[in-house]
Amino acid sequence: MSNLLLEADHLFFSYEGESAFALNDLSLKIPKGKKIACMGSNGSGKSTFFLCCNGIRRPQKGRLLFDGRPFDYSKKGLLQLRRQTGIVFQDPDTQLFSSSVFQEIAFGPLNLGEAPEVVRKKTEEIMERLGLSSFADKPVHALSGGQKKLVAIADILVMEPRLLILDEPASALDPLHTGLIRDIIQGIADQGVTILMATHDVDYAYHWADEILLFHAGRILEKGSPASVFSNRALLKQTSLTQPSVLSLFFRLCETGLLSPALPMPRTFEDITCYLQHSGQI
Ligand SMILES: Nc1ncnc2c1ncn2[C@@H]1O[C@H](COP(=O)(O)OP(=O)(O)O)[C@@H](O)[C@H]1O
Ligand SMILES: [Mg+2]
Repeated sequence: MSNLLLEADHLFFSYEGESAFALNDLSLKIPKGKKIACMGSNGSGKSTFFLCCNGIRRPQKGRLLFDGRPFDYSKKGLLQLRRQTGIVFQDPDTQLFSSSVFQEIAFGPLNLGEAPEVVRKKTEEIMERLGLSSFADKPVHALSGGQKKLVAIADILVMEPRLLILDEPASALDPLHTGLIRDIIQGIADQGVTILMATHDVDYAYHWADEILLFHAGRILEKGSPASVFSNRALLKQTSLTQPSVLSLFFRLCETGLLSPALPMPRTFEDITCYLQHSGQI
């Protein structure tokens, strides 16, 4: 049994009528149960790669494997793939189409032929978990952006995917909904679901991710632990990413001699406070 849930092997993809490659020799491996942050500037290929992950797009060259098996692009194969790989799109309006919140969330499992009473139970559980129960009968178009995003996540969670892909889930959300969605994502990760998330938020990615995949011009420029990727200043400059504030502060304190650079890289501001307390600085 492979420990990899998804593997991309030298993918090339260009959109119809475009000469440039949106994916240009992209290879990567996603281990089971990990939290992976996909970073990189606009146009670096993150969303295109996600669309390839559940077969909405098919690379012109290269190979994708799910749980060790090459993608099967037959109707049956795609259905099976999409049961296991769910994408929450950046813009919920492209994903949501049913009239009420309940109908929207129940649609996926009903469409797969699950028994209505089972679907009702699952849908109610998901709505409860995501704080959507009071909106059950509300039309989806009448929800706020944050509420729509929650419904879009519920839509995918009700299918119980093994791989959850979130394309910039907090873009355009207020701090309240950003926090809510991050808590939900953490809960899903704690259940062992593999998560692939595109984000531009370096502080969040540094704190949250097990691994960073840095996209650049349709391929992976660098991958590694948040500490190794975000301490590489040349790399950050090349990809126009800023350093997470916890790390900048840590390096500054090391430069001024207040902390030793031999200390393990801090993950949070609390870690830095502990270091300062232990070294007698505060
Ligand atoms: N529907 C499309 N038609 C043509 N080109 C596209 C389309 N979607 C994306 N692209 C192009 O593909 C490249 C990768 O884009 P995308 O995957 O959206 O990157 P990211 O998600 O990292 O911002 C960009 O050059 C973009 O302009
Ligand atoms: Mg994108």
